[in-house]
Amino acid sequence: MARVKVVINQKGGVGKSTLAVNLGAVESDVAAHAAAGGGESPVLVVSVDPQGSATWWADRVRSAPFRIAQAHDDVESLRRLHAVAGVDHVIVDTPGWIGDSPGDNRNGGSGEAMDAVLSVADLAVVPMLPEALSFDPTARTVRQVLEPRGIPFVVVVNAWDPRDGRTDLLETCDFVRSQGWPLARTVVRRYKIHTRASAEGVLVTEYPRTRAGSQARDDIQRLALELSMGVRSDGS
Ligand SMILES: Nc1ncnc2c1ncn2[C@@H]1O[C@H](COP(=O)(O)OP(=O)(O)OP(=O)(O)O)[C@@H](O)[C@H]1O
Ligand SMILES: [Mg+2]
Repeated sequence: MARVKVVINQKGGVGKSTLAVNLGAVESDVAAHAAAGGGESPVLVVSVDPQGSATWWADRVRSAPFRIAQAHDDVESLRRLHAVAGVDHVIVDTPGWIGDSPGDNRNGGSGEAMDAVLSVADLAVVPMLPEALSFDPTARTVRQVLEPRGIPFVVVVNAWDPRDGRTDLLETCDFVRSQGWPLARTVVRRYKIHTRASAEGVLVTEYPRTRAGSQARDDIQRLALELSMGVRSDGS
């Protein structure tokens, strides 16, 4: 059985696609090393976003190092995501939505796909920005989608700009802890290179070895390592 991680937050623009695709890239990187002789990657990145940003991105990557699927309308396949032959790690990129349930989508009709994906999720990764506007949508995602289904989750603060100082970051972390939610120790910093890369179809594993490139890559690698080590349920 593959381990299925679902990257989810009803708020748009918090980095779901960025994290999904780049976690896939760093996981596939080490998996490819481990699998002597190569072959197809055991990592699958799936987009259930009708706008298909993960696939959109992969189309622009010269040769994605992982498998890619766009499957927002293939509910039967999504229900068997954990049982795809040769795949050990699945990362699902989901769309943001308006309202209380994932089916309540701007584009309409992704509710069944989201339900299917959530039914096989081993872990939900919930990115949020270090700003108060992110608090309510994140809380709704946790309370109305993840907790009722009993899906283990971890909140990840994404796109923190160290030049802004630590006040917003600390406030955000305090908020997450006050809710009793597991919070990733890794904070993914804001780097222009991430923003540019998503426009150009470049993966974190391909970033140049400049200072910013290396630091941006470090965050994703550290997050991947942290997620692979399991999530504590006590929120500490
Ligand atoms: N850590 C980061 N540093 C810099 N830019 C970032 C970072 N994370 C995300 N971005 C940028 O922010 C924008 C939104 O990110 P992304 O598309 O991953 O969010 P999303 O949650 O998938 O949005 P949607 O809900 O619309 O699908 C993109 O331009 C992306 O490049
Ligand atoms: Mg997206």
